[in-house]
Amino acid sequence: MIKYLSKTPSNKLKGTALVRLDFNTKDEWRLLASIPTLKFLVSRADKVLIVSHRGRPDLNPHDKGDPEFVRLKNGLPIIKDRHLSLRKDAALLSRALKSKIIFIPHFRFRGIRAQLKQARCGSVFLLENIRFLKGEETKRPELAKQLANLADYFVNDAFAVSHRNSDSVARVEKFLPSYAGLELEREIIHLTQVMKDPKRPLVVIIGGAKASDKLGVINYFKDHADAFLLGGTPANTLLAIRGEEVNGSKRDTDPADSGKLKKVLEIPKLMLPVDSIRSRGMIVDIGPLTTKAYAKIISSARTIIWSGPMGWIERKPYTRGNLAIARAVASNRRAFSVTGGGETVMFLKKHKLDRKFTFISTGGGAMLEFLEGRKLPGIEALKRDTNIRMHSPA
Ligand code: 3PG
Repeated sequence: MIKYLSKTPSNKLKGTALVRLDFNTKDEWRLLASIPTLKFLVSRADKVLIVSHRGRPDLNPHDKGDPEFVRLKNGLPIIKDRHLSLRKDAALLSRALKSKIIFIPHFRFRGIRAQLKQARCGSVFLLENIRFLKGEETKRPELAKQLANLADYFVNDAFAVSHRNSDSVARVEKFLPSYAGLELEREIIHLTQVMKDPKRPLVVIIGGAKASDKLGVINYFKDHADAFLLGGTPANTLLAIRGEEVNGSKRDTDPADSGKLKKVLEIPKLMLPVDSIRSRGMIVDIGPLTTKAYAKIISSARTIIWSGPMGWIERKPYTRGNLAIARAVASNRRAFSVTGGGETVMFLKKHKLDRKFTFISTGGGAMLEFLEGRKLPGIEALKRDTNIRMHSPA
């Protein structure tokens, strides 16, 4: 059973909290989504230590996976991808929380433990990008143990990375009492609702960069959805399989997926674009007839799930179809609407439509895996929390 932070009595939340967050977006929206949990912890825990990541750093090949192995220069780790440091996030967090965040730029765990012990009550720390340590990905529990040694309990509020079987996401739970944070709780409640109890008609809008990434969601919803509306690369891929001319449009070409994709074409409620906007022959957006037909279906939906843009929204001239779809979802005030994924969320925020959705997931890949009905390691680990206490509180 998952223990939710929101339902945990304050007296159980004293001591040092280790909280896993996900700051991995170009802008700061994921970081801001973690503020309620941080405020909650700051008002209850003695000290808070934040662990997060950014990007996929290029690691030193000599690192054998020892969680403490980092080559140092002037006391700081030598990291190739220094631009992926979380130092800037510490400053951002300080502003958002209106209190000082102490940035820890190294991974000398004994030193960190001493620093935490000496710190005054109410101190909040942010550890450097945990992916600078190979131990995060080695699937051995050494790093998880080191992290657990720093705290009295663990909180996962990083839904967006909960599909990764990393030490700081899915293995710390072996060593500390563990809780789901406030944002993770919201994700579980809203996404479970659209999966298990969607009001009909249920409309699933599928776009984005890869058709094969969406197969799981299409399969999960194929018996419940009243319509699938396709755009982006998934649509181009299926149009090409159906024998239509897509020229050099972005599409999946891996023969390993073609059988499964052909089967998708047999789903009767699946709609593909009937027209498109093209640039040098390539499909870059859905066309006006498609937009109109999709918007009509969206207007009568009672549940809407949207994953992936309809076209090349990174280029302004090709955003028209996507914007029309976003407006259609936003203006259906009777529908329970859910979306997620960095690109889509940034697009909605830019056009001030994000608040008109019932729920915006912080997850991209994690949201897709959850909606496929797959078990996410970071959530499963919370169910298995063994509550072993390793040490006396810092
Ligand atoms: C994300 O941005 O989707 C998460 O932070 C996970 O990142 P990853 O795909 O690099 O594991």
